[in-house]
This record gives sequence, C-alpha cells and structure tokens, in this order.
Amino acid sequence: RRRSFGVKAFSEEQEALVVKSWNSMKKNAGELGLKLFLRVFEIAPSAKNLFSFLKDSTVPLDQNPKLKTHAMIVFVMTCESAVQLRKSGKVTIKDANLKDLGATHIKYNVVDEHFEVVRYALLETIKEAVPDMWSPEMKSAWEEAYNQLKAAIKSEMKPSA
Ligand code: HEM
Repeated sequence: RRRSFGVKAFSEEQEALVVKSWNSMKKNAGELGLKLFLRVFEIAPSAKNLFSFLKDSTVPLDQNPKLKTHAMIVFVMTCESAVQLRKSGKVTIKDANLKDLGATHIKYNVVDEHFEVVRYALLETIKEAVPDMWSPEMKSAWEEAYNQLKAAIKSEMKPSA
C-alpha cells in the first residue's frame, strides 16, 4: 500500500531555507539536539518518563548519549523530510522503517501533545541557532517539514487490536 503525506506543495525556496540553516547548524547538531530536548523537558517535565534510558539513569540529562542521539535524529529526519517534500511531495522514511517508528512511539506512549512540544522547541532552537537567517518563511518551512514527518509517523501509530 502506498500513501502520500504531502498535500501542500513544498517549494524549492522552502527546501533551500531548511537546507541552508541545517548546513550552518550541522556541526553543532549534537549540542543543538540536546538543547532541543532540554527545552522539551522544561516545558513538559513528565516527558522524561517516556524514555526508558532516562528513567533509571544516574547520568545527567545533558550528558546522556542516547538522548543526544534521539534528538539528532529528530533534527536530521526533519531536514531530510524537507528535501523529500520538494522532490516528491511526500515524506519517505529512509533509515528507519516507518512501521517500527510508529510502533516504538506507540509503545512508549508518545502522544500528540509531545509532538507539539517538540515542534515548538525545535523551532525555538533553530531560531536561537541561526538568528541572522531566521525569518517567518524559514519558520514555516521547518514547521511544514516537521508536520509532514509527524503525520507520516502518526499514520503508523495506530493501536494494534
Ligand atoms: C524512539 C525518531 C518524535 C519519544 C525513536 C527512534 C527514532 C525516533 C528513530 C528509535 C527507533 C525505534 O526504536 O524504533 C523520532 C522522530 C520524531 C520523534 C523523527 C519527530 C519527528 C518523538 C517525540 C517523542 C519521542 C515527540 C516524545 C517526546 C521517543 C521515545 C523513544 C523514541 C520515548 C523510545 C526511546 C527508548 O528506547 O526508550 N524516535 N521521534 N519521539 N522516541 Fe522518537
């Protein structure tokens, strides 16, 4: 079964805005990813409990390698999503299998509100990372790329029963 997630057209300009800012943030992706999730936990402290590797960990949050990895994945996949949206009008999950992604987020009780908080924190983090490039157009390009990626993941987050 094939599905398309892209409804609105994603323009070359939008892709360029995402790629340009990503190229400038890439070298700090680990730090920025951490910053993103520290902000998420500031807004929604209980979200920490979703992550198995945070629950019983004595490693400080800002030094947790697994948190850093997940955070970077969110950044990288959102950027890739922008590229795919422009190329084919839809999000294709590459490295991770979409079904697994959906199943994992269901299993760990990730809900829509979490995706909302992460989107907000992602945009804030980018805004602070590239203040000179930031614009309403850049914001909406990242937002659209994230929303489409979220829709792709959520389409596979159906409770199995
Ligand atoms: C696991 C990506 C959003 C919480 C994962 C994995 C990937 C991923 C690749 C590991 C794959 C697997 O185990 O199947 C993403 C992407 C997101 C996103 C691309 C957004 C576009 C979120 C949000 C939350 C979240 C909003 C909650 C705040 C988790 C948790 C796990 C996970 C709890 C399992 C971690 C563990 O092993 O304990 N995510 N994620 N993710 N994600 Fe996300």
